[in-house]
Amino acid sequence: MAAIYPDLAGKVVVVTGGAGGIGESISRAFAAQGARVGVLDIDQTRGQALQTALGDSALFFPCDVTDIPALQSAIQSVRDRFGPIDVLINNAAHDERHDTLSVTEAYWDNRMAVNLKHQFFAAQAVLPDMKATGKGAIVNLGSCSWVIGQGGMAAYTASKSAVLGLTRSLARDFGAFGVRVNAIAPGWIMTERQLELWVTPETEQSIYENQCLKRRLVPDDIARVVVFMSSDEAGAITNQHHIVDGGWN
Ligand SMILES: NC(=O)c1ccc[n+]([C@@H]2O[C@H](COP(=O)([O-])OP(=O)(O)OC[C@H]3O[C@@H](n4cnc5c(N)ncnc54)[C@H](O)[C@@H]3O)[C@@H](O)[C@H]2O)c1
Repeated sequence: MAAIYPDLAGKVVVVTGGAGGIGESISRAFAAQGARVGVLDIDQTRGQALQTALGDSALFFPCDVTDIPALQSAIQSVRDRFGPIDVLINNAAHDERHDTLSVTEAYWDNRMAVNLKHQFFAAQAVLPDMKATGKGAIVNLGSCSWVIGQGGMAAYTASKSAVLGLTRSLARDFGAFGVRVNAIAPGWIMTERQLELWVTPETEQSIYENQCLKRRLVPDDIARVVVFMSSDEAGAITNQHHIVDGGWN
């Protein structure tokens, strides 16, 4: 059973990419805390299904986070329905592998748009609410891939390392207003997508060789840390990069 943080009850939370993978676990975890969750995602089928499953706790807003005006409008819709935003979870991303020599300028820009740019503009859209309340928490999903020096996805790893720089600048600029900003860097987490696309018996064996913990890491392992980091229990933690990888690093 997961911990309950009473201060999260009634809080207004935005989760980008909140309908699938780790984001779905995060949305469900906040709903279990009694928070009101605005789920933003491009996947309408999963988003509608999650809204139905979570009842009054969550509303789904279809949104492509690479379309910044649409992202800003979706965040405004969450505010209109639930009130000022207390917590932002910048989770949406796309981890497509790519061969460096084939990457075009347009593909590079698209990777930055889906993995990095929206994190800044979502934060920009919620920070006035947090400044006005004198309190807020932003959690940006990074990745361990760049920390371990993973190849085969240079645009992805570049964008995910930049999440740390973004986190530290926002934490510095908005700490004086009571806003905490942290990054979570997951290791290899067994989402549906990872299991379908990349995990084979051989790669799974390599996970156990690399991790200190000899078990699969699952989306809930990340969701629990994200929820903790958003709660008052983490009230003195900001400007940090928290690696959750079973000891891979
Ligand atoms: N799974 C892992 O092993 C792992 C490892 C390191 C970092 N991460 C990070 O964790 C976060 C979640 O990853 P995941 O594995 O759950 O990914 P996922 O691909 O399983 O799910 C991503 C979610 O984001 C949504 N999404 C994708 N593009 C979107 C767009 N343009 N607009 C709106 N929504 C969009 C998808 O529909 C999906 O619901 C990401 O930031 C990822 O970089 C994951």
